[in-house]
Amino acid sequence: MVEWTAAERSAVAGLWGKISVDEIGPQALARLLIVSPWTQRHFSSFGNLSSPAAIMGNPKVAAHGKTVMGALDKAVKNMDNIKGAYRDLSVMHSEKLHVDPDNFRLLADCITVCVAMKFGPSGFSADAQEAWQKFLTAVVSALGRQYH
Ligand code: HEM
Repeated sequence: MVEWTAAERSAVAGLWGKISVDEIGPQALARLLIVSPWTQRHFSSFGNLSSPAAIMGNPKVAAHGKTVMGALDKAVKNMDNIKGAYRDLSVMHSEKLHVDPDNFRLLADCITVCVAMKFGPSGFSADAQEAWQKFLTAVVSALGRQYH
């Protein structure tokens, strides 16, 4: 189990309280599809992904970005049992969606980049980044849990 200091808990909760899921979610998923284009194969039903502008303007990408980002709320609320909180989601991504678990880390990195750009050096200090990346690492590990 991941151990959290009081400072890390408060940094994650503080950052999460400031994040707009509706803003960062679409940005982060669009960024993943642009930066790591092989991830597009999972979203062939989403329509036009033919250019960065098309991806950023695609309403299905935006809607799914909100869903994915919104799912982080469950991890924030269950920081001491993220694996349990994501058990079903991990099974789904593994057995039904066949998403390569390496892609979870790539999405986590895109989320961090979007958060850093949004809040800048004062809102996203090195301390905040330490706690936030530790948090997303726990999320990535929990989502990869049911793969074998
Ligand atoms: C669906 C969360 C990463 C591909 C979902 C759903 C959630 C979710 C909550 C909807 C589940 C439902 O309908 O019951 C997450 C989280 C991620 C993550 C928290 C990492 C932080 C990824 C990555 C990919 C991916 C990296 C592929 C590269 C998909 C696909 C669906 C899905 C294809 C189904 C979309 C649809 O057809 O509606 N994910 N996901 N996910 N996810 Fe993920």
